[in-house]
Amino acid sequence: MTSTIIEVRQLTKKFKAKTAVYNADFKIARGEIFGLIGQNGAGKSTLLKMIGGLIHSTSGEIYFFDRSESKDQSFFERMGLLIENPGLYPQYTAYKTLQLLAIAYGLKSPNQYIIHLLRLVGLDASDKTKVKNYSMGMKQKLGIAIALLGSPDVLILDEPINGLDPQGIVEMRKLILELNKTGLTIIISSHILEELSKIATTYAIIHKGKIIEVISKDDLLLKCEERIELEVDHVEEVLPVLEQQLNISNYRVIDQQNVHIYDSHIENHQIVHLLARNQKLVHSIVKYKMSLEQYFLELTKSAGELHA
Ligand SMILES: Nc1ncnc2c1ncn2[C@@H]1O[C@H](COP(=O)(O)OP(=O)(O)OP(=O)(O)O)[C@@H](O)[C@H]1O
Ligand SMILES: [Mg+2]
Repeated sequence: MTSTIIEVRQLTKKFKAKTAVYNADFKIARGEIFGLIGQNGAGKSTLLKMIGGLIHSTSGEIYFFDRSESKDQSFFERMGLLIENPGLYPQYTAYKTLQLLAIAYGLKSPNQYIIHLLRLVGLDASDKTKVKNYSMGMKQKLGIAIALLGSPDVLILDEPINGLDPQGIVEMRKLILELNKTGLTIIISSHILEELSKIATTYAIIHKGKIIEVISKDDLLLKCEERIELEVDHVEEVLPVLEQQLNISNYRVIDQQNVHIYDSHIENHQIVHLLARNQKLVHSIVKYKMSLEQYFLELTKSAGELHA
């Protein structure tokens, strides 16, 4: 059974006249990779900072398991954060950086754990390169190792893929999936839906401060999958014909008149021809294909402006 690890209710953040996040409401299940998608300035970092305890909300509540943050702030310690630039010491190596932070965290005998963390994120504990000479990808990996230092239950990553080259993106995705396999719940933001499409289990779309959709990976893929949308008089009368004569098996009945067909071997004209031969009227038939990015753009275009 899935349990809710984080819930936000009516979470709002105002900066003077600017409402950066407005009435955000959603739940994150334990073990999920929760993708937060929004354009520049949509409110991603602000929302993640509130969940991570870096800034106070103006109103609303955050629950960790069943505890409200207003009653118990200690749960913020259960979160590991990589939000905006990690505060790195340019003169030190990755190992030394983690050692210093481990002391600050009060960890006892952290050396083995540090070696383990560096290996986990794909860095070498014996590497003498100073952090100031690190590539963007290496800095991000170190940032994640720092976020993991306190053995968190939830890892919050704000645009960890931003600025990485294709190879770096592949490595980051792999790392996120590996961390998730260890039971870690991960919240990750991006301004590109496609970028997270290979890893997130749930997506929340934020636009101008409002969460405009929360959708599971399966439902999102179903919405964007190539299909034929067929409208007829009575779906139940045409389905046996389609099944028997065109071998159609992968379809979804929307209502009494509409069915979506996902079998890729079928062309529109075959359906029209077959149904005409069987005296079944076709009201409309369209091939539908939408990329994830198109879907995101359509959704944000139709979403209202933020009035708060
Ligand atoms: N400290 C602040 N003071 C005033 N306004 C702020 C502050 N922080 C954020 N904002 C405003 O709140 C809005 C949301 O900003 P936020 O940084 O959360 O967006 P974002 O989705 O993370 O954008 P990006 O993709 O560029 O990182 C923006 O209009 C921003 O200017
Ligand atoms: Mg941001």
